[in-house]
Amino acid sequence: MKLKDTQAQNAFRYSWLVSRIYKYIKPFMFRAILSVLVAIPVGMLDGVVALALRPYIDNVVNKNPLVIHGWVCPFDIAPFIPFGIVMFAGLQGVLKYVNAYLTAWVSQKITMAVKKDLFKKLVEMDTRFFDDNSSGITLTRFVSDPDTASKGIVEKLKDLFTNGFGALALVCVMLYSSWRLAVVGVVVLCVAILPVLLIRKKIKSVSNETMVVGGNLTTNFNETYQGNKVMCAYGLQQRQISIFNARLQDSFDLTMSLTKRVGWMSPIMYLIASFGIAFVLWYGTSLILNGTMTMGALTSFVTSLLLLYKPIKSFGNTLTDLQTVFVAMGRVFELFDLQPEIKDADDAIELDEVKDGVCFNDVSFEYVQGHSVLKHINLNVRKNETIAIVGNSGGGKTTLVNLIPRFYDVNSGMLMIDGTDVRKIKLESLRSHIAVVFQDNFLFSGTIRENILLGNPKATEEELKQVVELAHLGEFLDSLPDGIDTQIGERGTSLSGGQRQRVAIARAMIKNTPIVILDEATSALDNQSEEIVQKALDNLMQNKTVFVIAHRLSTIKNANRIALINDGELVELGTHEELMQIENGQYRHLYEMQFRKQDAVEA
Ligand SMILES: Nc1ncnc2c1ncn2[C@@H]1O[C@H](COP(=O)(O)OP(=O)(O)O)[C@@H](O)[C@H]1O
Ligand SMILES: [Mg+2]
Repeated sequence: MKLKDTQAQNAFRYSWLVSRIYKYIKPFMFRAILSVLVAIPVGMLDGVVALALRPYIDNVVNKNPLVIHGWVCPFDIAPFIPFGIVMFAGLQGVLKYVNAYLTAWVSQKITMAVKKDLFKKLVEMDTRFFDDNSSGITLTRFVSDPDTASKGIVEKLKDLFTNGFGALALVCVMLYSSWRLAVVGVVVLCVAILPVLLIRKKIKSVSNETMVVGGNLTTNFNETYQGNKVMCAYGLQQRQISIFNARLQDSFDLTMSLTKRVGWMSPIMYLIASFGIAFVLWYGTSLILNGTMTMGALTSFVTSLLLLYKPIKSFGNTLTDLQTVFVAMGRVFELFDLQPEIKDADDAIELDEVKDGVCFNDVSFEYVQGHSVLKHINLNVRKNETIAIVGNSGGGKTTLVNLIPRFYDVNSGMLMIDGTDVRKIKLESLRSHIAVVFQDNFLFSGTIRENILLGNPKATEEELKQVVELAHLGEFLDSLPDGIDTQIGERGTSLSGGQRQRVAIARAMIKNTPIVILDEATSALDNQSEEIVQKALDNLMQNKTVFVIAHRLSTIKNANRIALINDGELVELGTHEELMQIENGQYRHLYEMQFRKQDAVEA
């Protein structure tokens, strides 16, 4: 499943999005609602100020008594108005703070919950997912999108409420001042908002493309980081720079294309609004002249109208931003619907022990449809047998052994342990019976001890010592300042390839499983340590069912049987002696080409 291909098709399905995010808002519902409610009075202060202007002009400046529904106010209100304004500003300040706090709290909580679930999803995904998706796209999809989505939804809703109620309050003041003028004002506003609705779709498609470009940029950083040495060795700096610049340009073009389409919105809204204001001034003057409206009412009205511009504009912007938020939400919730192809079957069973062995029954496999990598492999490996796998590079040796812990599933045929299809065994149980040493082994950040213990966190100090000894790590660890407790750099970079491989071997040894897979496990070692580690591996291989992909003749000769895989086909199978007997045999040919010299050296 390529993440690039899931491009927020759901961004317009609002009810679907809301129903998905609801699960995350629900636990914080009370505070979420509270933060929204608090946003209401925050937005309404402008209305209060505009409203206060009417009695200020009519009753203070023009010295008429204040009359509310026939009740005549007996005292002078002049001193109270400035006092009231300060009080309101103070109150608004407190509410703003509460609101900011609550909004941040709720949005962070939601983001956290979404990210936790997403990370869980990521961990569950199968090998093929990681083959298919670049780190940059994955990072954007699993890290930045949830930020945009869940922080955005709360913050934008808050903005929508603050501005919406701010505008509403001002409209009320306008209605109170003069309903005739207010009708004109509201009609003008509705016209002014129209452009926002027209460009929604464009914004969505652009913000989706922005995500892909952003992901590509991140990939660029990752490659420059991880491939730094290759970059320097082959003088690829200019190449990296060109790719990066091209992607930056893409991002620039996208932003500009969006601005081109969105940038005219604000001026147009402003223009429409100015028509409204011009009309109101002309019409309002005539209303005052014929006595329908007081001076204070017009002042109050015009002030409201002018103040209205800010919340309406933010309202428009927020609506635009919300489109981006919806796109991000669409992308995030699509991730939750990803299903790893490799997972437990409903009727999956536990694997208690390995009694008979591993059997490939007419197994075929392809990574990409139409390009078969393994073709009709039949191979029965008995319990405690060591089988060496040799063959041409790219022939499918690694692929073959990767099928056993189900990094991939067979396309046809069946892979069985003790006669049970591996697809019918619980993944965790299956993998707990298999130890793998790869050619290129990943070590996690932390100490060497921690990395070895990953194989078996419950191992005793005694067992740890033993595997360190067996993996020929002792001397190396003694040379380190903190010994086994030395921190290794991220990606295990401070260790040499051979040292890393030995730590990985120790990690596999301490796991102590009935099935062992060694995929060129000693390839990074020098001859001397390889010999010693090989002895350690011989220990590891005792009384185990072992698949060993090796290039050392001694390892191959010591195996019970040798399987020769050429271009995905099992062409020869047997002991060293048997295979050497085959006239024009491929193993014999390989031996002549590669191993004879080794044999001579070792003999
Ligand atoms: N993750 C993958 N996606 C697509 N093709 C792959 C993948 N891994 C390996 N291949 C291809 O499958 C073939 C067998 O590879 P592999 O099993 O690694 O060979 P070997 O270990 O014998 O050198 C090669 O042609 C290789 O290019
Ligand atoms: Mg390989």
